[in-house]
Amino acid sequence: MSVSQLKKIDGAPRTDQQTQRKIVIAVDGPAASGKGTLAKMMAQRLGYAYLDTGAIYRAVALATLEMGGDPSNVADVEPALEMIKRNLTPELLANPILRRPEVSEASSKIAVLPQVRISLLEYQRDFAKNPPGDVGGAVLDGRDIGTVVCPQADIKFFVTADPEERAHRRFKELQRQHPELTPEKILYDIILRDQRDSSRKVAPTLAAADAYVLDTTKLSPAEVLDEAIQIARARFLAASDNGI
Ligand code: DC
Repeated sequence: MSVSQLKKIDGAPRTDQQTQRKIVIAVDGPAASGKGTLAKMMAQRLGYAYLDTGAIYRAVALATLEMGGDPSNVADVEPALEMIKRNLTPELLANPILRRPEVSEASSKIAVLPQVRISLLEYQRDFAKNPPGDVGGAVLDGRDIGTVVCPQADIKFFVTADPEERAHRRFKELQRQHPELTPEKILYDIILRDQRDSSRKVAPTLAAADAYVLDTTKLSPAEVLDEAIQIARARFLAASDNGI
């Protein structure tokens, strides 16, 4: 996209009247890398819609568990998948129960199933193309947004951090509600999930060839946001008068 195709309305870039196409920002990366925090902050800063695609996998995983199913068995997962697809709401995706360790584990099992991935593609692509509300674009975070869901995204980030740092962050996040967890157990789970997410045959966690890689190990969320905004500005907001 050329810079001349963009103009700024209400502080956020929009496509011109001719195409009406929305801006798409893809944020991928492994568990607890900071991709969700960055994606949410970017969406807020730009006034774009935000979709946490991991929460969709988590919602399907939780529904499978609640139905007494095995998250590795596609026949058990399918009824949960259909039910969640009919009831996908922002409230459902924000449910804190989705963050429970057993749901994390189950979600990485269902994410291996090609039927599940294919079935969720349309919703994610439709969100990117027609984000809810009168907004100029969408920020989606996940594992395969820049590679599979939105390979034509206007800008792609791949967010990483050392596994130890990611485990430390997850420990801080979960420690109050789950006093039984230790940093070692969380590190073990993260490494296991990384392996499962990156070695699966369909849409493994992977940086797109044209993604900007951001290592957040030593950075605060505000520093990561600054870096991403600078990249975005250089990439497609350079000609804007207003800045972001
Ligand atoms: O980002 P997260 O930890 O909330 O994701 C939960 C699981 O869902 C994770 O194990 C990988 C999977 N996932 C995926 O395969 N593709 C996505 N676009 C998002 C998440």
